[in-house]
Amino acid sequence: MVDLPVTKLSWTAFDNLNLMEKAACMCDGGREYHVLYAQQFGRERLDHLGRLATAIRRLAKTKEGMHELQKMLPHKRAMLYFAQPSSRTFLSFAAACQILGMPVAEVRDTSVSSEFKGESKEDTVRTFSSYFDFIVMRTQIDGLAERMAWVLSNSERPVPIINAGSGKDQHPTQALLDVYTLQRSFEERDGIDGKVIMFVGDLARGRTVRSLAWLLTNYDGVRQIFVAPPELQIGEDIQALLRERGVEFRLTEDFDASLREADAVYMTRIQDEWDSVAGESRRINTDRFHFQPRHLDILKTNAVIMHPFPRRQEIDIAVDTDPRAVYWRQMRNGMWIRAALIADLFRCDAMIQSDSVRRCG
Ligand code: CP
Repeated sequence: MVDLPVTKLSWTAFDNLNLMEKAACMCDGGREYHVLYAQQFGRERLDHLGRLATAIRRLAKTKEGMHELQKMLPHKRAMLYFAQPSSRTFLSFAAACQILGMPVAEVRDTSVSSEFKGESKEDTVRTFSSYFDFIVMRTQIDGLAERMAWVLSNSERPVPIINAGSGKDQHPTQALLDVYTLQRSFEERDGIDGKVIMFVGDLARGRTVRSLAWLLTNYDGVRQIFVAPPELQIGEDIQALLRERGVEFRLTEDFDASLREADAVYMTRIQDEWDSVAGESRRINTDRFHFQPRHLDILKTNAVIMHPFPRRQEIDIAVDTDPRAVYWRQMRNGMWIRAALIADLFRCDAMIQSDSVRRCG
C-alpha cells in the first residue's frame, strides 16, 4: 500500500498548501503517484520519461518489440473518465494502454453514468477505483482532479489519478508530450537549454501553456515570450512562478518581431468555451496572431512550429507541409510519452529498458 504524504492531511490542511507543497504530497519517494501538476516534474524525471518514451517508440516498430511491450501490463486495467470533450488525449491514452497490453474502459458522458442520477464525483471516482487500477480524468472543473486524488488516497483503494486536463488550470501530460517533442526537435542542437520558446494565442485560459511554461523552467537559460492581446495574456500566477524560478520572459503583442527570435513557436486557439458571456472572445481581434505562410520566411530555418490542437484558423493549413511544422508529430508523441508515464507508474521502466527487451526493437 502506497504511503503518500497527502494521506496524513485533512482536505482543508491539504487545500491550504501552496502548489509546490501540494505537488510533493502527491509523490511517492520522488516519483509522481497521482499525476496532477506540471510542478511534480523535475529535469531528471523529464529526461527519464523521454528516454523511456523513445525506447517504447523503437520497440513498437517491430512485431517482436510490440509483443514484449504488450506483456508488460495485461494484469492492470485503466479507466478513462472524460467528462469534457477530447480527441487526442483520450485516444492517445487508450492507445498507450493498448501498447502496454492493458485493457481500458471509458465514461465519456456523465449523462450515461450514475452521476445523472445525482451521484457525487467522490462516489463516482471511488466506484471506478473498485474495478480499475488507475483513472485518467478530464474535467472542466479547476482543481477537481486533485480533490479526487485526495479522496482516493484516503480510501481503501488509493489507485493513481492522472490529470488529463482540469479546467483552465493544468494539463500536465500535454506538457510532457510538448517537452518530449522539444527534446526530439533539439536533440542535435544541445537540447532544450538556452532556447527561445514563444507562446501565442489564448494564454490566459490555455491550460497547456500554463503547464508547459512551468516545465520549461527545468531547463537552463530558456527564454519565454508570451504573445497575445492584453485580454488573453498569461496569468499573473504563472508570471510570479517564472520570476521565482529566475526565468527570463516577456509579454508582447508583436508577433513578427518575436517570431524572428523563436526556436519554437507554440500556437494555441481561442478557448471560447470559457467565455463568461457567450461570444465575448469574438470581440477580440486575433487575426494578427495567426501563423500565415508569409511567416515561414521570417522564422529561423531550424525552428519548430507546435500546437496542442485542436486548431481553428490560427495556423494556415498551407503551413502544414513545411518541415518546421511538427504538430502532427507532436500529437503522436503524446501516445509514446503517455505509454512511458504509465509504464513508469507501474514500475515497468527498467524492464522496457533492459538489454533483453531492447534487443527486440
Ligand atoms: N491537446 C488536447 O488536449 O487535445 P484534445 O482536447 O483533443 O484531447
